[in-house]
Amino acid sequence: MATLPEIPKEKMPRHIACIMDGNGRWAKKRLLPRKAGHRAGADTVERCVDYCMTHEIPWLTLYAFSSENWSRPKAEVEALMILLHDFLKKHSQKMKEKGIRLHAIGDLRRLPEKTRHLLEESIQETSSNTQLNLVLALSYGSRAEIVSAAQKIATRVATGELKAEEITEQTLSEHLYTANMPDPDLLIRTSGEMRISNFLLWQISYAEIYVTDVLWPDFSTENLHEAVSNYASRNRRFGGV
Ligand code: FPP
Repeated sequence: MATLPEIPKEKMPRHIACIMDGNGRWAKKRLLPRKAGHRAGADTVERCVDYCMTHEIPWLTLYAFSSENWSRPKAEVEALMILLHDFLKKHSQKMKEKGIRLHAIGDLRRLPEKTRHLLEESIQETSSNTQLNLVLALSYGSRAEIVSAAQKIATRVATGELKAEEITEQTLSEHLYTANMPDPDLLIRTSGEMRISNFLLWQISYAEIYVTDVLWPDFSTENLHEAVSNYASRNRRFGGV
């Protein structure tokens, strides 16, 4: 592999979030079942994790399964759950050794019991790691996350623990699944669609968005580096001048 052009350290994103789209189209192009596309997509996940480790990017969030994805055909949902289960089985030990801390955001109660159990175990076992925070968005929907935060805050107001006028942006952030996580700096979406798809709506307020036509299973280390280089070349103003 050719060496990748250097990016100054201070220009690197601290948190990359990915909408991993295009697995189905990748499979269709090859006359393969959709689950083959998801399987190939899991290899891209490994490449992205390795890239973040090598380039000392401390946060990577991946949209692995949305709350809307439950409405896909039963066989596809099952295939995705098996893939997640196998991914955790295959990588838990390695994550522990390599310094990767696993997190999950979403309505995890909906996951199959044994997958949830394995997930919770991996989260627990990697909880003291600090090298890379790998966040899997599973059964995740941003609007539901915001509604759930609003309910928790309303309960605190109702019990008198908090006054309505004391609610700030930080209060809301602290009641999201992503409490204590930095907001994404760079949001990547593969396979060309210009949509956010109910992903981290609150958290991406100031993220830089990068959309590529490359399908997720084809998304290479070079493609990721290109996205990061593009991010590094931008002038982030956060609403200022
Ligand atoms: C969207 O592509 C992708 C998904 C719904 C699943 C993403 C899952 C993976 C990449 C693999 C598993 C991940 C882990 C962490 C083990 P699509 O099916 O909507 O593609 P299409 O738009 O081309 O049909």
